[in-house]
Amino acid sequence: MSSSDLKKQAVARAAIEYVEYDDIVGVGTGSTVDFFIEYLKPIKNKISGAVASSISTQEKLEANGIRVLDLNDVSDIPIYIDGADEVNSNFQLIKGGGGALTREKIIAGASNKFLCIVDDSKVVDVLGKFPLPLEVVPMARSFVAREVIKKKGMPVWRENFITDNGNIILDINHMEIFEPILLEKDLNKIPGILTVGLFAERPADHILVSSEKEVIELEKK
Ligand code: A5P
Repeated sequence: MSSSDLKKQAVARAAIEYVEYDDIVGVGTGSTVDFFIEYLKPIKNKISGAVASSISTQEKLEANGIRVLDLNDVSDIPIYIDGADEVNSNFQLIKGGGGALTREKIIAGASNKFLCIVDDSKVVDVLGKFPLPLEVVPMARSFVAREVIKKKGMPVWRENFITDNGNIILDINHMEIFEPILLEKDLNKIPGILTVGLFAERPADHILVSSEKEVIELEKK
């Protein structure tokens, strides 16, 4: 296994400690979460079920015999566990590299606690080196791109990609995001953007970070 995969595996294993008996667990999307699902399998009878943040995660949970619940049938999600593309020391995140940002943001908002699991390559001082994903209603693609350019962003259409909700993704390149909450609010005002891949208004509550040596819980600045 590559060193990057070993780190993802280690942080996924550590996240299992945060799952409590009878919990309904929100489950994110991505390669780090794929390892988490493997660790969830042996304790599947100790939890009440899982709420999936994508069709891909739903299929993986079901393939592992883990009960998947519809968010509409659930009133309380004690914990949501997901990866991220970038994290800062305020626990603000860029997510959506895998295109699942909308359902991820819904579950993050619906959960009491959001535990983010990353390897040390994802920890940054300033968000934005990783292109910021926007989920956009298809008919608004060019309009949204023009609006983003006015805000000095460089949008790139993620071609041949359709989200689970039938929309497209624009990735904003070359942004230094010094004020994540303001940018998230500002982009949310553009009609046609369904979801901004900045998780700043609702940041993570805890972040576990793995290096080659160890897994640590990040301290908030
Ligand atoms: C999915 O849309 C993303 O938000 C993922 O959570 C993020 O891209 C992290 O994925 P990896 O664990 O594969 O790096």
